[in-house]
Amino acid sequence: MSTDLWPTRPVRPGDPARPTVRGSGSLLVDNIGELVTNASGDGTGGPLGIHRDAALLVEDGQVAWVGPARGAPAADRRIDAGGAAVIPGFVDSHAHLVFAGDRAAEFAARMAGQPYTGGGIRTTVGATRAAPDSELRATVRRLRDEALRQGTTTIEIKSGYGLTVADEARSLRIAAEFSEDTTFLGAHVVPAEYADRPDDYVGMVCGPMLAAAAPYARWIDVFCERGAFDVDHARAILACGQAAGLGVRVHANQLGPGPGVQLGVELGAASVDHCTHLSDADVDALAATGTGDGAASTVATLLPGAEFSTRSPYPDARRLLDAGVTVALATDCNPGSSYTSSMPFCIALAVREMRMTPAEAVWAATAGGARALRRDDVGVLRPGARADLIVLDAPTHLHLAYRPGVPLIRQVLHNGVPQ
Ligand code: NIG
Ligand code: FE
Repeated sequence: MSTDLWPTRPVRPGDPARPTVRGSGSLLVDNIGELVTNASGDGTGGPLGIHRDAALLVEDGQVAWVGPARGAPAADRRIDAGGAAVIPGFVDSHAHLVFAGDRAAEFAARMAGQPYTGGGIRTTVGATRAAPDSELRATVRRLRDEALRQGTTTIEIKSGYGLTVADEARSLRIAAEFSEDTTFLGAHVVPAEYADRPDDYVGMVCGPMLAAAAPYARWIDVFCERGAFDVDHARAILACGQAAGLGVRVHANQLGPGPGVQLGVELGAASVDHCTHLSDADVDALAATGTGDGAASTVATLLPGAEFSTRSPYPDARRLLDAGVTVALATDCNPGSSYTSSMPFCIALAVREMRMTPAEAVWAATAGGARALRRDDVGVLRPGARADLIVLDAPTHLHLAYRPGVPLIRQVLHNGVPQ
């Protein structure tokens, strides 16, 4: 897997477009049986914007043309999809990749009946603080490459296992080597050394920690949950992050009902994540933010890997979709609650356990993730978008849920480059 195509610094709103891969010639992906573009309103029917017997031209790392295979333009190189389905690369909008160690024993204890409380986060914090940069970087690279092999071409990466000024800053510095979408999660839990003075910790997060982290971060996030940060602390931290130019996302309503979702809506969060325990008022508040591309809408990002791995009830995606809420799917990849990097696995869970249709789940794992990151250059295959796509080993996107656990990712193009 090449690494030089990935960014070396985070993108800030208003930044000029990133340079794409130039001079590599044009590439035609031809003989596509089913092309999922997510470009609706193009007369092809359905939110997936499906074209049959299609072709797609890549130039300078971007999609240059989409249309019928029979009218495809000439190109320097050609990939024959052999009648298979092609979909946009997955956009995994929620992952915690900067950590050391694992918690397999904690997982085994849960499968033997122990509940998940989030208390194991401190175990990973200890291991992460003790690890050299080289080890953290190697872990991020390993998981990023693992995700890429499974079709993920955009991945958000959070800090949150350092919880000192230096360890949060280095976590984000390393994350920014691999992703444009890096998130400062200094408010993951209150670390042990601050256990009896959480106000002091919040002051530190808003002060020197944010100052050290912000140059490497696009987003700020808080774990707003009983046992982590209450709504007043969460609001204070998120507001400081906003004042420093960071966009807002919230870990909300994971372990029980709570104020996190409505706090996220109040602050104009791009996404509220988990959404496992929602009241009618939470759903209404999300629906009221709208579903369009508009900057104001708040996406509900569902993370079924966490419910799988903590043996918890799944969030009800159907309820959100029927209310008109925009839903994204992401992995939550982390060593405690969801140690998977597989978006196809999340799609299969969402369809089987969360009452999503296969089309809704594929949309949520691509265009939905892009909305959750407020990006319009990924998660969609239309002229001008980044040429991030997957050739499936299947005739239709339906197989991602229909054939769970089967390696269906035949080829991945990232920035127009075969991986
Ligand atoms: O999103 N909920 C908080 N954070 C992670 C879990 C982290 C851990 O258990 O290490 C999550 O599930
Ligand atoms: Fe998470």
